Amino acid sequence: MVSGDIPMWKPENVLHEGAEATVTSGSWLGRKAVLKSRRARSYRHPDLDRRLTRQRLAVEARVLSRLSSVGFPSPKLMFLDQRNSSMLLSRIEGRTLYELLKSDESSGDELFSLGGLIRRLHEIGISHGDLTTHNVMSTEEGELHIIDFGLSRQSPELEHLGLDLQVLRECLGASHSDIDDAIDRVCEGYMDKQSFNEDVESAKDVLDRFRKIAGRVRYHG
Ligand SMILES: Nc1ncnc2c1ncn2[C@@H]1O[C@H](COP(=O)(O)OP(=O)(O)O)[C@@H](O)[C@H]1O
Ligand SMILES: [Mg+2]
Repeated sequence: MVSGDIPMWKPENVLHEGAEATVTSGSWLGRKAVLKSRRARSYRHPDLDRRLTRQRLAVEARVLSRLSSVGFPSPKLMFLDQRNSSMLLSRIEGRTLYELLKSDESSGDELFSLGGLIRRLHEIGISHGDLTTHNVMSTEEGELHIIDFGLSRQSPELEHLGLDLQVLRECLGASHSDIDDAIDRVCEGYMDKQSFNEDVESAKDVLDRFRKIAGRVRYHG
């Protein structure tokens, strides 16, 4: 089990072993935490690989710090171990939105709430880059948190904001096709006036761009 050089880190069990990262749960100074370690991918050139790995780690750490400073629901960065391409994050107790939607315990409101949360993220000035239902977690209380910011951007262009919705649309179509009009619910949440700022114009611009991208994909695909 990867423990790297993080003092006082007590690993318990591996939660996730993906192509790019291993996530281990455990505790750190008595707090529930996860260690996310990025792994080198052998098919890439080692120099390029190290650069990409380092870059994603740095991006994720920076974005998580920013999000926690504004109280956005995402993991808190507790420790950054750049030498081992690892970071220690606060553990979110719950399950992924993917699992929740697959279970029969979904309230039916999650996609609307997620739309509002994406709007809030965008208004903070961040695009996610990989918005799938595996990268959203739901706590026992039903609160949604967004995770996995390695492909996110600060000061994104309109295209990146539209793409967030398109990536989610593709995920919902591929993995949750039993939910009718799933992406429409997300968009309703995104446009909901109570969501956030009064900046309705830019939210409309994002949806317009998303619809253009979706149309492009449909036409060519
Ligand atoms: N802070 C966290 N708390 C609890 N579980 C987490 C946390 N971060 C990640 N996980 C679990 O590990 C999985 C992979 O983490 P993620 O950051 O999405 O890595 P990857 O880049 O490999 O997709 C998530 O889908 C989730 O199940
Ligand atoms: Mg992920």
